[in-house]
Amino acid sequence: SWTTGNVIEEQVERIRAQVGEGTAICGLSGGVDSAVAAALVQRAIGDRLTCVYVNHGLMRQDESEQIEKAFGASTGGAKLVMVDAEEQFLTALAGVTDPETKRKIIGREFIRTFEKAQAEILREQGVVEGEGDTAHAEAKAFLVQGTLYPDVVESGGGEGAANIKSHHNVGGLPEDLSFELVEPLRTLFKDEVRAVGTELGLPDEIVWRQPFPGPGLGIRIIGEVTKERLDILRAADAIARAELTAAGLDRTIWQCPVVLLADVRSVGVQGDGRTYGHPVVLRPVTSDDAMTADWAKVPYEVLSRISTRITNEVSEINRVTLDITSKPPGTIEWE
Ligand code: XMP
Repeated sequence: SWTTGNVIEEQVERIRAQVGEGTAICGLSGGVDSAVAAALVQRAIGDRLTCVYVNHGLMRQDESEQIEKAFGASTGGAKLVMVDAEEQFLTALAGVTDPETKRKIIGREFIRTFEKAQAEILREQGVVEGEGDTAHAEAKAFLVQGTLYPDVVESGGGEGAANIKSHHNVGGLPEDLSFELVEPLRTLFKDEVRAVGTELGLPDEIVWRQPFPGPGLGIRIIGEVTKERLDILRAADAIARAELTAAGLDRTIWQCPVVLLADVRSVGVQGDGRTYGHPVVLRPVTSDDAMTADWAKVPYEVLSRISTRITNEVSEINRVTLDITSKPPGTIEWE
């Protein structure tokens, strides 16, 4: 029968069998999935695991700093490497508007970044002598990912499933992947991952963190992703999150993407002046596993405060709208 204890034991065994004496790196996002995956691998292979956090420039306000701070408590003392790859990702995304193309680019850049980090780790450990050392080029490299069952299904990996969207760590992976994947959560749903996380002793702050997609704000800007647009969205998103948290809704709501319609403008009025700004969409949803969702009935007063604050505090945004579509037919993210 299914117990968190069984899952932990079984996965630790499997990881040991798969990785053997090898080393692994784990892409850490700050969310519960990658934290639980990392904690399981840490249990299995100890300090032969290195966690890598990639700041791709698509994170929310202050998020990278918070993740670095919370890290120690969440993974049983694994090593952490922080990589600043903002310029690399934004350059790769320049001019791109198609959602699946964005997802594939982000998936590819993640892997390129992990490859670089892996090479550096091996060099530091003295396993590889230098750039020119090809003797160890054949050595197997393991990449730990917190892929869940729904990610696999919706990326078209499940039996008979359609490709709804390519999750950055499944359908968005490059074809010439040099890593062997370690995915201890591949058969689990989010609520099960949370239970395993609690059993492993991870703090509530991580276990109950709302989902945030790996491609980050890159798939919440409808249109081209630029630094300027990201800053606008970050400001609006921070306000929405602060107000939902203040209203005590963090556990009622599964997540609330804020989406910037960057290529849309509408006319507004501020003081005596005309404005011609962008709309944002609030997408609060309730869900059990993200496979289906309903729009969350957030109290009007809370919506009202979010709207007032965003339009007052973020000068480029002059309209706030609410997405009242369930999933299906809508998905949670807009891209
Ligand atoms: P959708 O938009 O497919 O989202 O209804 C379902 C859940 O998955 C999250 N999501 C992702 N998570 N990489 C991730 O790690 C991705 O590429 C990705 N795309 C969507 C989304 O936030 C929601 O919780």
